[in-house]
Amino acid sequence: MIIKSMSLQNFRNYESLNLQFDENTNIFYGDNAQGKTNILEAAYVSGTTKSHRGAKDREMISFDKEEAHICTRIEKNGIIHKIDIHLRKNKTKGIAIDGIPIKKAGELFGIIYFVFFSPEDLGIIKNGPSERRRFIDMELCQLDRVYLHQLSNYNKILLQRNRLLKDLAYRPDDKGVLDVLDLQLVKYGRQIIRIRKHFVEELDGLMVRIHDKLSGGREKMALGYEYNVSEAEFEKELARGRERDLKLKTTSIGPHRDDISFLVNGIDIRKYGSQGQQRTSALSLKLSEIELVKKRIHDTPVLLLDDVLSELDGSRQNYLLNYIHNIQTLITCTGLDEFINNRFSVDRIYRVSGGMVTVENGQEADE
Ligand SMILES: Nc1ncnc2c1ncn2[C@@H]1O[C@H](COP(=O)(O)OP(=O)(O)OP(=O)(O)O)[C@@H](O)[C@H]1O
Ligand SMILES: [Mg+2]
Repeated sequence: MIIKSMSLQNFRNYESLNLQFDENTNIFYGDNAQGKTNILEAAYVSGTTKSHRGAKDREMISFDKEEAHICTRIEKNGIIHKIDIHLRKNKTKGIAIDGIPIKKAGELFGIIYFVFFSPEDLGIIKNGPSERRRFIDMELCQLDRVYLHQLSNYNKILLQRNRLLKDLAYRPDDKGVLDVLDLQLVKYGRQIIRIRKHFVEELDGLMVRIHDKLSGGREKMALGYEYNVSEAEFEKELARGRERDLKLKTTSIGPHRDDISFLVNGIDIRKYGSQGQQRTSALSLKLSEIELVKKRIHDTPVLLLDDVLSELDGSRQNYLLNYIHNIQTLITCTGLDEFINNRFSVDRIYRVSGGMVTVENGQEADE
């Protein structure tokens, strides 16, 4: 799948922008705060309806404007699809596929798949479990429609349960409601645990091979699903933890406390890894993600690389750039030196400056 073009209106610092993409490598370069990441963010929103940095809709609309519009053309199996996303200040977003409005964001599912790689991803191993869960959720919500649905239900019930735990102190009669919520939490939670387990196992198989190559055969990687509670024991453990939950006024058991472990040669690198080791492993994790997506969707995803090259040393850069040479990629960076030094083939170069984009080679941006 390929993103052919994108036009923006009132999106962040773009009043109006029309871009045609090359089907291979597209580089966006420019100084800080010029709007490079905003372009990748807009693309990501068009595929997932959400910002990769967790921004709210209203934050993505240009200051002083009421609405933003993102329109992309996607080519999938030789067919062009048009996706329109309208972000509105005080209303839910409007989405249309091929001009037909859709009611649920989930209907956008499967048209385009983006893998987003940002400098923060390089910290995924050293940072806390919530970021690793966010990684799983970001991927699975694009890959698995059932997961998307179950996760949103789970989060809703979890919120209600936590609210109830706080309220029960002065509304003790509502204890029966807790039983109902527990049943639902277990129902959705078990499916999440099952899907996550499968996902991590599959990713592990891919990552072992990639990490072996990336580390020159020196490191044996093992990825593990560190669940807070197993699928089989969730119901029992939730019941057992109830008194504690009532005291703490929060839900202490469930997949919202899950984690993934990274073992290199048997050592837990979340705690004991060197910084270089953690970053290399983060890179193999992202590359494995691309492989997993390819396997699942029988197509190549579009890769969005936000400023990561400058964060990697020469050999890792080369590895990454070789890896992606047959995947459509949108790359941002502040300077072009690194590519020229690497003699990397760049198909289209765009200069980004103050919310304007000019093409420096290939076709014109504004067609
Ligand atoms: N809602 C908004 N309306 C208007 N401008 C915005 C909005 N949100 C962000 N901006 C502007 O967008 C610019 C930042 O864009 P972006 O994050 O894409 O920069 P960048 O080119 O990726 O920079 P860096 O190299 O530092 O990562 C800032 O100037 C910021 O003020
Ligand atoms: Mg940026």
